[in-house]
Amino acid sequence: MHRTHTCGELRSQHIGETVTLSGWVQKSRDLGGMTFVDLRDRYGITQLAFNMDSNAILCESARKLGREFVIKVTGKVIERASKNAKMATGDVEIEVTHLDLLNASKTPPFTIEDESDGGDDLRMQWRFLDLRRNPLRHNLILRHKLGIEARKYLDSLNFLEIETPYLIKSTPEGARDFVVPSRMNEGQFYALPQSPQTFKQLLMVSGYDRYYQIVRCFRDEDLRADRQPEFTQIDCEMAFVEQEDILNTFEGLVRHLFLQVKNIEIASVPRMLYADAMYHYGSDKPDIRFDMKFQYLDAEMKGKGFNVFDSAESVIGIVAPGCSNYTRKQVDELTEWMKRPQIGAKGLVYCMCNEDGSFKSSVDKFYSQDDWKVIANKAGAKGGDLILILSGGLHTTRKQLNELRLLMGGRLGLRNPEVFAPLWVMDFPLLEWSEETSRWHAMHHPFTSPKPDQLSLLETDPGAVNANAYDFVINGVEVGGGSIRIHDRAVQSRMFKLLGFSEEEAKAQFGFLLNAFEYGAPPHGGIAFGFDRLCSLFGGSDSIRDFIAFPKNNSGRDVMIDAPSAISEEQLRELMIQVTND
Ligand code: AMO
Repeated sequence: MHRTHTCGELRSQHIGETVTLSGWVQKSRDLGGMTFVDLRDRYGITQLAFNMDSNAILCESARKLGREFVIKVTGKVIERASKNAKMATGDVEIEVTHLDLLNASKTPPFTIEDESDGGDDLRMQWRFLDLRRNPLRHNLILRHKLGIEARKYLDSLNFLEIETPYLIKSTPEGARDFVVPSRMNEGQFYALPQSPQTFKQLLMVSGYDRYYQIVRCFRDEDLRADRQPEFTQIDCEMAFVEQEDILNTFEGLVRHLFLQVKNIEIASVPRMLYADAMYHYGSDKPDIRFDMKFQYLDAEMKGKGFNVFDSAESVIGIVAPGCSNYTRKQVDELTEWMKRPQIGAKGLVYCMCNEDGSFKSSVDKFYSQDDWKVIANKAGAKGGDLILILSGGLHTTRKQLNELRLLMGGRLGLRNPEVFAPLWVMDFPLLEWSEETSRWHAMHHPFTSPKPDQLSLLETDPGAVNANAYDFVINGVEVGGGSIRIHDRAVQSRMFKLLGFSEEEAKAQFGFLLNAFEYGAPPHGGIAFGFDRLCSLFGGSDSIRDFIAFPKNNSGRDVMIDAPSAISEEQLRELMIQVTND
């Protein structure tokens, strides 16, 4: 028998029992007469004691144990002379009588402790060792719990988990596809699904009116802390529902997860129109843990001779409460931050609203104290506050100011990861115009239903049409998105036409769906949550990588297995793929 207990299990009530444990040597301390070893497994750490006086040979063997050796020990649970309140098993230790070396280990390239000495790259390369560390272990356990609780909730509401295929057809909408060559069909390729979108809609046509799947999705897009090329969705679809039913059902899911996994009660989730989110926060995923709404200052700040503002489409500010004591150095540093290419602001105007009622700004030449009084009043700034103002095109200025708002919110300690502010963002525009391709693109995806009362605008003023589309946002992170779908063939055809598909192209790409719409498609809609993002939010981290057992790095590589990699000439021949070097 390898073990009677795990390394996280023994307490004072076990004192006197003879037990067997197996695990990894976290570290050992040789104190001359005694050798102590910390034995670790998935469940915790138990201290082993080897006594020179009572068993010198055994103690000698223990001294030779290196870090990460795998051992099995048998011994008696005894009370510790010096207890460790920080450890769950800290009241006891094992007086070892038998020691078996199950496997030796090379010295690991970094310390396998909560605070490791290994850098990110090294730990990614040795991910299987990194996964032995507590922080990652906790993250994977959290992920498991969230998955179980999501399944429980959805099962309780009659949702069926149904698997959809991974080898599907490449489609031109959305992100880039990862493609897989087909050996049996020369020159043809499967695509890995960016989401099971069309399949879940077909399942609705098939009558499975409540579907879900915790499912891997693949997108070949630029990576960031919250984006992986393969990631997991809690993908859901319902038939015979309206938007309200979906919002309630999935608000319920998030509430269930918070309660069961974090013991947090979420009050009902506020709703904000997309247009308002953009107006007040310059973002379709506003972090509403703090206020700091945008202040539109065109009327107050234009026409005073400051050419930058006079010639700008928009002048917008935010008020950073209590920051009027910012030094010149601090505001210069903020300005430089905004000027970085990632943000691209041309400059930043500031005004300190002093406690004594006076103002000090970077553009005092153009604005008098009286002007500032009016501006501060409009912006809602009080004595002690700092007004930060940007100008330029409306869209760009909003985007840049959103970054500044988030930065200031963070600096002011208003973005506590243990505070959760969920939000529905509703009524997204159906389409967005792309300058690059000179055509309309679906903002969510081409299967999203226009608002029924705006259907007539589809051809005449497509940009004005809103969709029954919604995102679930928590703390400024888009954790989910969905919509009511088109279930009418004619509307779907109109949509494809708007997106630039000819009749033939639409048929070739999406004929299966258009066909299905002719065989009794019920009204339906759904949502998909980014499961990795949910996990990282619940775990209080910005990076989804820490919640994926074997993630890719920012270049899309798995540096541990060294993928992607070249394949052999023979494989290429078999797939009839020619690689040329030009
Ligand atoms: P969408 O594209 O909005 O919708 O994706 C749903 C959610 O998936 C998460 N997500 C990602 N997470 C990690 N890495 C990525 N690369 C990544 N891309 C997206 C986000 C996002 O909100 N089929 C539709 C859903 C529907 O309409 O029902 C869809 O995929 O949290």
